[in-house]
Amino acid sequence: MSSRPELQAPPEIFYNDAESRKYTSSSRIMEIQAKLSERALELLALPDDGVPRLMLDIGCGSGLSGETLSDSGHQWIGLDISQSMLNVALEREVEGDLLLADMGQGLGLRPGVIDGAISISAVQWLCNADKKSHEPRLRLKAFFGSLYRCLARGARAVLQVYPENIAQRELILGFAMRAGFAGGVVVDYPHSSKSRKEYLVLTCGPPSVSTALPSGKNEDGEDWSDEDSEDEENQTVCISERHRPRKKLKLTKKTKGRQWVLNKKEQKRRKGDVVPADSKYTARKRKARF
Ligand SMILES: C[S@@+](CC[C@H](N)C(=O)[O-])C[C@H]1O[C@@H](n2cnc3c(N)ncnc32)[C@H](O)[C@@H]1O
Repeated sequence: MSSRPELQAPPEIFYNDAESRKYTSSSRIMEIQAKLSERALELLALPDDGVPRLMLDIGCGSGLSGETLSDSGHQWIGLDISQSMLNVALEREVEGDLLLADMGQGLGLRPGVIDGAISISAVQWLCNADKKSHEPRLRLKAFFGSLYRCLARGARAVLQVYPENIAQRELILGFAMRAGFAGGVVVDYPHSSKSRKEYLVLTCGPPSVSTALPSGKNEDGEDWSDEDSEDEENQTVCISERHRPRKKLKLTKKTKGRQWVLNKKEQKRRKGDVVPADSKYTARKRKARF
């Protein structure tokens, strides 16, 4: 059987009471999730002014990722689909407010109230259809649309994901861009199959907001740039445009010919209207778009 939890059962079934306890008592998992959360917080690049922010932890589970937010002095709302995971979070007395919710149905939060969002090891779950009614594309659309709306303009979301393959990464990123986010994927430890980690770094707001992607880390923990890699698969994907589809201009509108315009002007003259004199420019063709 695949070792990917996403392929074994829906999240609310996979993370049952036993699994949620096992997950939260493993010191290895605790250490990994803490590191991922710290890196996500770093990539959020919140102003270094000591002001506590209202943050969102999407797929918060038992609160391992949210604890990093508390440690940094922020308040947070954690959302998860697994009641068992949230029960463990309650037992652990995490500081965040907890919501039992499916991110694939949209976040349902008030517009513009969240200062930053993290999600650690959760969003790739949306790529699976766990029920007959599940359509991953619709769920990704609902999720990213609602995430965009609830974030304050200029705020960031950093989502650490484990996509199954390149197509899945592109699918997730594509829906983020369609929702209006700018950003891309930051890859840490790109040459290590074990340590490689991917973060979607998304910025919400007007194009004037700085959307430059931070660098990923290499095996020595130092920043690296795309020029360091000849391997395409290991490069930081940087898409800094907003990708809302443009409305198509109507190009097929039929225009009336020069003779029609001349006749019309003549009719008006006969009625006594003031009409500009005819010239070589009368009823000339104009470019379809400027
Ligand atoms: C690997 S755990 C990570 C939990 C936590 N972020 C951490 O770092 O420990 C993934 C979490 O995503 C949650 N999840 C998966 N699909 C979800 C969905 N559609 N809506 C909300 N949470 C979901 C799971 O229930 C699980 O708690």
